Amino acid sequence: MATNASQRTLLLTGASRGIGHATVQRFNKEGWRVITCSRHPFPNECPWGGGIDNHVQIDLADPNDTINAIETIRAKLNGRLDALVNNAGISPKGPEGERLNTIDTDLRTWGHVFHVNFFASVVLARGLKDELTAAKGSVVNVTSIAGSRVHPFAGAAYSTSKAALAALTREMAHDFGPLGVRVNAIAPGEVETSILSPGTEKIVENLPLRRLGQPAEVADVIYFLCSNQSTYVTGTEIEVNAGQHV
Ligand SMILES: NC(=O)c1ccc[n+]([C@@H]2O[C@H](COP(=O)([O-])OP(=O)(O)OC[C@H]3O[C@@H](n4cnc5c(N)ncnc54)[C@H](OP(=O)(O)O)[C@@H]3O)[C@@H](O)[C@H]2O)c1
Repeated sequence: MATNASQRTLLLTGASRGIGHATVQRFNKEGWRVITCSRHPFPNECPWGGGIDNHVQIDLADPNDTINAIETIRAKLNGRLDALVNNAGISPKGPEGERLNTIDTDLRTWGHVFHVNFFASVVLARGLKDELTAAKGSVVNVTSIAGSRVHPFAGAAYSTSKAALAALTREMAHDFGPLGVRVNAIAPGEVETSILSPGTEKIVENLPLRRLGQPAEVADVIYFLCSNQSTYVTGTEIEVNAGQHV
C-alpha cells in the first residue's frame, strides 16, 4: 500500500490471527496504513495491504525485544501515529487444558502472561508517546470479560492481567489526555478465534444474544474508538460480549 501525507497509520499487536486479523482488514478497508506486529515473520496466508515493510517481528513476552522494537517502529512512522491497538494476548492452560488458578499457576507463567498482556502495552504507548501526540491519536487496549469476573476457562494470570490492563487504560487516559491522546479499552466476551476453549458453546447458550461473536464485530468497535466518531470518548471500557456482563 502506498503511503501519503494524509493517510492515517495504525500500529497493531497480535495482528496475525483472530481479532487482530479482522482489525487489519477493517482498517485497510477504511484506507489506513496498518503496521502489524507478531512473533512470526510476515504471514503469507494473510497478505494484507501493507506488505512486509509494514510488519515488525517482535516477541512481546521479552521486555528487551519490546523495548528495542520501539526504534524500529519509530523509523517507519514519519513522526505521527494515529492509533495504537494493544491486542496481542495469551491465555495459557494446564497440560490437560485445565484452567490455571491462583494456587497452581507457576510464577514464570504468570510473568510471561503479564509481559504479553500488560507490560507490552505500557512500553509501546510510552515509547510512541511523541508520535501519538503529534497525531492526536487513540490507544485501544483489548481487555476481556475475564478481567471483571471469574471465568470457567480463563486462568488467574490471564484474568488479573486483563484487570490490570483495564486499570492501565484509566491511568493512561488521565496521563495522555492532556496530550490530546485518547485511551480506551474494549472487553470481548466469547469471540470465535483460536483462543476459545472447548465448552464455550455452553456459555454461549445463556448469553442474551445466544451466539458467539465474530472477530469482525470486535474490529468494528476498535475502529469506532480510533475514528473521528468517538473524539470525546476516553478512559472507558466497552463490553463487546452479547450482554454477557448483565
Ligand atoms: N477470542 C475471544 O473470545 C477473546 C475474549 C476476550 C478477550 N480476547 C482478547 O482479544 C485479543 C485477541 O485475541 P484472539 O482471540 O484474536 O487471540 P488469538 O487468535 O490467539 O491471537 C493472538 C495474537 O497475539 C499474538 N501474540 C501472542 N503471543 C505473542 C507474543 N509473545 N508476542 C507477540 N505477539 C503475540 C499472536 O501472534 P503470533 O502467534 O504470530 O505471535 C496472535 O496474533 C487478546 O488480547 C485476547 O485476550 C479474546
